[in-house]
Amino acid sequence: FFDGVTLAPSDPILGVNEAYLADEFPGKISLGVGAYRTEKGLPYVLPVVKRVEQQIWEDPRANHEYLPIDGLPVFQRLATELIFGPDCAAISDGRIVTVQTLSGSGALRIGLTFVARYYADASSLPPIYIPSPTWNNHRDIVPDAGLGEARTFRYLDAKSGGVDMPGLLADLSDAPVGAIVILHGCAHNPTGADPTLAEWRDIVSLVRERRLIPFFDVAYQGFASGDLDTDAGSVRLFADAGVDMLLSLSFAKNMGLYGERIGSLSVVLSEHTVNVPATAKAVRSQLKAVIRPMYSSPPAHGARIVAGVLGDATNFAAWKEELAGMASRIGDMRTALKAALDANGAPGDWTRIVKQQGMFSYTGLSAAHVAYLRSKYHIYMTSDGRVSMAGLTTSTVQRVADAIKDAVET
Ligand code: LMR
Repeated sequence: FFDGVTLAPSDPILGVNEAYLADEFPGKISLGVGAYRTEKGLPYVLPVVKRVEQQIWEDPRANHEYLPIDGLPVFQRLATELIFGPDCAAISDGRIVTVQTLSGSGALRIGLTFVARYYADASSLPPIYIPSPTWNNHRDIVPDAGLGEARTFRYLDAKSGGVDMPGLLADLSDAPVGAIVILHGCAHNPTGADPTLAEWRDIVSLVRERRLIPFFDVAYQGFASGDLDTDAGSVRLFADAGVDMLLSLSFAKNMGLYGERIGSLSVVLSEHTVNVPATAKAVRSQLKAVIRPMYSSPPAHGARIVAGVLGDATNFAAWKEELAGMASRIGDMRTALKAALDANGAPGDWTRIVKQQGMFSYTGLSAAHVAYLRSKYHIYMTSDGRVSMAGLTTSTVQRVADAIKDAVET
């Protein structure tokens, strides 16, 4: 029956990690997948997470029962407050419906499937706009959710390495009313280039004027500036504007809970919603109807960890410090890599490495450079030249800088 199955292409990000793991060279370096590594190059379990995991099992009521279809209620509340802010009017109005999801990808998939099923104008589905470039999985999730191929809008100014605001505004001005626009809340992946708050205001105005529906993907809250509230600034501007929006939140990176698959999807109803309680109830019921046939209900452990961190003042304070520590080590690696490239004379302007924020640097290296780095130096990164800065350490940065110089000069 399955003779006709052909080989699928390997994933552009996780496939790089598979190749890295299969490489037996002892000095190999992984700058591919966006996962934080310590100064020793090792995975990092946050101390606060370990503590909360112990606390979970000290509670005699702890068990492995099913969670509800939409997840742990206390997690839903705390995640919503973390990203929208506890004083958000949409929260007090009851206009935000949040469900627990299988991290950010799960939230995007549930949210887009919901849109495909329940978009007001069932006769024509909305076009989905994604930034160019964007995280690879966006391009794949959109058609898999039944929404056809995504359209792109200009995002990166390749020359400066910053955001191409004129291009972005021009392309979104052409989007039809009701189009869904995927936006990275902070620490844009892969470019590390974010609009300023003033530029976000221009995007809010356009979204209101064109009646577009933003779908925020927030996978790096706390990693851009080191501060959770600062990184939520873009999202809060949109929530304050009272528009319909969706939001995917992930705790993979900022709590180091990659494999726990813990995140949330929020559907925010606009301030023009006629009957908020009834609509919110209906939306939740339909989100559950999407989730149940897909994976029934979400896993519990990650949700309990996040709730334990966010819901306790001491744990929350400890988390903020540990998060700022991760962001600061990445910042140090940016400075060190740029300095090493300047010092060894690698051709090019490497200023963008210190200007971009979050986990990645979009170096401008070509696919040929990336292939050269992999085959000659066992240094792994995605073919678009994205470097996961968290994969660098003080002991590898010089080696990477010298390899980059060689690649660029060859
Ligand atoms: C990345 O972009 O490297 C991460 O978000 C991991 C992933 O799932 O692609």
